[in-house]
Amino acid sequence: MAESMKGLKRTHRCGELSAANVGEIVTVMGWVQKQRNKGGIIFVDMRDRAGILQVIFEESDCGTENFEKASTLRSEFVIAVVGKVEKRSGAVNENLSTGEIEIRATEVRILSEAETPPFPIEAESKTKEELRLKYRYLDLRRPDLQNNLILRSKICTSIRNYMAGEGFLEIETPILQKSTPEGARDYLVPSRVHPGSFYALPQSPQLFKQLLMCSGYDRYFQVAKCFRDEDLRADRQPEFTQVDLEMSFVDVDDVIAVTEGMVAKVCKEAIGHEVSLPIQRMTWQEAMDRFGSDKPDTRFGMELVNVSDVVANCGFGVFTGALANGGSVRGINVKGQAEMPRKKIDALVDFAKGYGAKGLAYLCVLPDGTYKSSFSKFMTEEELAALVAAMDGQPGDLLLFAADKLKIVWSVLGALRCELAKQLELIDPDKFNFLWITEFPLLEWSEDDNRFVAMHHPFTMPMDEDLPMLDTDPGKVRAKAYDIVLNGVELGGGSVRIFQDDVQEKMFEVLGFTKEQAWDRFGFLLSAFKYGVPPHAGLAIGLDRFVMLLVKAESIREVIAFPKVKDASCLMTNAPDVVDDKQLEELQLKIEVINEEA
Ligand code: AMO
Ligand code: AMP
Repeated sequence: MAESMKGLKRTHRCGELSAANVGEIVTVMGWVQKQRNKGGIIFVDMRDRAGILQVIFEESDCGTENFEKASTLRSEFVIAVVGKVEKRSGAVNENLSTGEIEIRATEVRILSEAETPPFPIEAESKTKEELRLKYRYLDLRRPDLQNNLILRSKICTSIRNYMAGEGFLEIETPILQKSTPEGARDYLVPSRVHPGSFYALPQSPQLFKQLLMCSGYDRYFQVAKCFRDEDLRADRQPEFTQVDLEMSFVDVDDVIAVTEGMVAKVCKEAIGHEVSLPIQRMTWQEAMDRFGSDKPDTRFGMELVNVSDVVANCGFGVFTGALANGGSVRGINVKGQAEMPRKKIDALVDFAKGYGAKGLAYLCVLPDGTYKSSFSKFMTEEELAALVAAMDGQPGDLLLFAADKLKIVWSVLGALRCELAKQLELIDPDKFNFLWITEFPLLEWSEDDNRFVAMHHPFTMPMDEDLPMLDTDPGKVRAKAYDIVLNGVELGGGSVRIFQDDVQEKMFEVLGFTKEQAWDRFGFLLSAFKYGVPPHAGLAIGLDRFVMLLVKAESIREVIAFPKVKDASCLMTNAPDVVDDKQLEELQLKIEVINEEA
């Protein structure tokens, strides 16, 4: 039976009380973590978002009725307690912020009873994630999730304060909009008023923030919900949040400076980490050559070595064959792992195949200086020695090689070095390595579409010195695009935008859009550009990823209150779900399930 809290007013959160409050009469409200009945004395741990507090009931303090009530308390009951703060009679609990004190209760009210929860409400839960997500409202009571969300809120406050201080205006852009070109699939919303027409949920506020620049707002930001119907991974959600910004009359360095200031302030205020500025910059080309990735984890070495020249004339057909096909041969040196068991090496080969490799060649430099290798029989002693020297192979080292199209070699070795670093525990988890990747290629050749696609988006400005190549060799053009990377995760990205008609037209041409198609899709932007457009540039940080990395969570789901799972469904509400026929009728929609297998 639920009691009223009439006449009571909460004075403190449970976890806020400390030895400084000893002697005070307080009223606390929260959930029962645990009740222990020791006969004449009842201990109750109470919990709220601030922490856990020990309450003591003795009949002589609280009277028979309250004492009997206390004896019926069970986990997750919601209660109010009035009592006096005292120094702990028993041992001090070092693990609790309230560990030095307890409350001697004079009154308790049961505000709400609770059924036994399907899993214990405790930190570092061992419960399967599916069950936790089904009962997310209970999961969210756990202290680690509460800490994550509290920190997320703190980070948002810190961002807003910083941006306001830098003269940015927070402006909202529409959620129901025309589709924006960011490369992922759109979520569509059918229109009732315009049967057969659809809104798209924004993949980002890209075009609207550019329009705001045209309208003279000169510094815009937004904590923006974005929606992308793409395949999910640990650091991807179908709906996620960006800290999105755009600035007028600026170039690359200005956006980088503002972003660095924000990132440094957030790290300082949220977790007390000092980011040393300026953040290191690396061109895309250097990142790919050294790390095989445009989001390199620089907390460890194991950099890629190009051995194409060294093996150009060797006897191993896999290497020379790849080179003859215009490919490349590159390797990594896994220090001190020459004695890795064959089984583990085979697992690495399988891992590499998952990234498109046809195989993975290995060479162990044994402690006595001899080699054990999957390809040594195809090479002379001299060829092997030259290869080992090029890799700086010392006795005890394991050398791994991929031979293929350069794109595949990069992706295989880039992924492999991260996997090995994880397996061999080479990463210092306390490091926060920020890095800018600059000078991305403007375009990427799409084998599927047999045409160039924009690597960032079609409004990204080519680098000044590369502009002439847009006509002659578009694949070589570099862009004024930049990504900010943290510990091997793409944290954010942006670019300087095209603001000249002729460059934009050329860009659409290279992307294979006719003038009509371009105007049909982006006419409102192109038209806005005709009425006076300032040079502008911007960027968006993935807020969920940022919080995930700062709290060192394994998955983005640990920092989102109500996340979705791999198949984009919500296990708690069961979304997406079928809708009533009446709703479909209103939308003038009919469902016809097309079974692809049939
Ligand atoms: P971009 O597409 O690079 O740029 O997105 C910016 C950042 O958003 C985060 N992010 C995601 N986070 C979680 N789940 C996802 N599915 C997801 N997709 C992206 C990443 C990423 O770096 N309009 C441009 C920005 C600009 O040019 O100003 C844009 O959206 O952290
Ligand atoms: P094979 O001659 O096919 O037995 O290959 C000999 C060795 O080369 C094996 O260790 C293969 O895994 C490896 N290998 C095969 N294809 C490649 C490739 N494209 N790049 C690197 N190593 C490869």
